[in-house]
Amino acid sequence: MKKKSENRKSKAKRHYELLKRKEKRKASLRRVRKFKRKRYLVILNEILRIEKDRRDLVRNIYKGRKFQGENLEIDIDGSYGLEEKRSFLDFVTKSSEFIDFDSKELYLNFDKTKRLWPSAITLLCSLKQWVEICTKNKVDKPLISSSTPNEDDVASYLNHCGFYDYVDRRSDFVENKYSDSDTAKIRREYAGDNPDERENEIIRMLEDFSVFNEDEIEIFGDRVLIEIFNNVMEHGISHRDQGWWLLAQRHPEHKLISICIADNGIGIRNSLMTGPQRRQVKRQIENTSTKDGEFIKLAIEEKVSGAIRASVKERTGLIGSKYPLGANRGNGLKRIRAALWQLNTEWSILSHNGYMHFNRKGDVVHCSAEPKRVFAGTMYHINVEAR
Ligand SMILES: Nc1ncnc2c1ncn2[C@@H]1O[C@H](COP(=O)(O)OP(=O)(O)OP(=O)(O)O)[C@@H](O)[C@H]1O
Ligand SMILES: [Mg+2]
Repeated sequence: MKKKSENRKSKAKRHYELLKRKEKRKASLRRVRKFKRKRYLVILNEILRIEKDRRDLVRNIYKGRKFQGENLEIDIDGSYGLEEKRSFLDFVTKSSEFIDFDSKELYLNFDKTKRLWPSAITLLCSLKQWVEICTKNKVDKPLISSSTPNEDDVASYLNHCGFYDYVDRRSDFVENKYSDSDTAKIRREYAGDNPDERENEIIRMLEDFSVFNEDEIEIFGDRVLIEIFNNVMEHGISHRDQGWWLLAQRHPEHKLISICIADNGIGIRNSLMTGPQRRQVKRQIENTSTKDGEFIKLAIEEKVSGAIRASVKERTGLIGSKYPLGANRGNGLKRIRAALWQLNTEWSILSHNGYMHFNRKGDVVHCSAEPKRVFAGTMYHINVEAR
């Protein structure tokens, strides 16, 4: 009898302990769920805040522009472009004289122009587009005009490379001195477009004219072009515009193929300073346009990213530990640099006020910024050696 009641008691105790354990497990599950919910909300809030900051910044950049100053005339004398090593600094200095113009009229004087390199054409197309975005719904649109070049070669090239079509200008009748197979012409690309067609054009030019072998062309396509296309389409595209540009040209007498890929977005500094890693970046560099060169350097040399969902370490506040939010990003520019170094190829980036230029050995030749912008958005420029 006594044994029976003891058995019953221990059974009840076991049952009670089981229930207690179940209850404990449930409570811990509830805590985990609550923690996960909180963590998800932190991520969501962060993303929404970043998107809002970026939208505000884009609105300020484009809407804040007024074109009411004195008319500005710029003489483009001699050769204009960054393709020739010695002309790199002349190019950025000249560009900074007018990219940030605020006059009612901008007149580009090509009377004494001897050569307009692809980088210059890309710069002019992106400037035109940038001004259009700034003045979308405004009446005080500035007038950008230019003289007809005296040099036939220059006029012929403006027509041939797609510039006159782009700016909707009737081409001055000049004999075409250039071959279509030497050029991937400039036109406006859209974010949703598939860049494959443009990529194929460049690959074809490299196969026909560059010093690269098959493997090297594959490296160029898979690492350099893809990463640049990704960057101009993701980071360069503002909410107000969806455009980017590509111009490639073979220059037989200089034995080079100049490749320009550009956007007219918010620039590398603004992208990083409105991204999830902005606090980390702010600790390293002051957020002013005169530091644009340092921002480009940072984006190239360190694993930082302005991508909205890039990973960032945050304190949770709940258990005091750090955890990564978002995806593993910030590798593209490093891949581009490593590939071009391996391919022994010179390249540069211009982004708003800043610029960085690497020689064939991968050494930094220039890394600085001008007081005014040198490019409306961001341009990647590569000089591939031709046969
Ligand atoms: N065209 C551009 N316009 C504005 N910012 C840019 C541009 N290209 C690069 N950046 C900035 O530089 C950062 C680093 O670029 P990078 O290509 O190295 O990494 P990512 O694009 O963020 O990630 P991924 O590893 O997927 O390429 C970008 O996150 C962005 O903030
Ligand atoms: Mg990238």
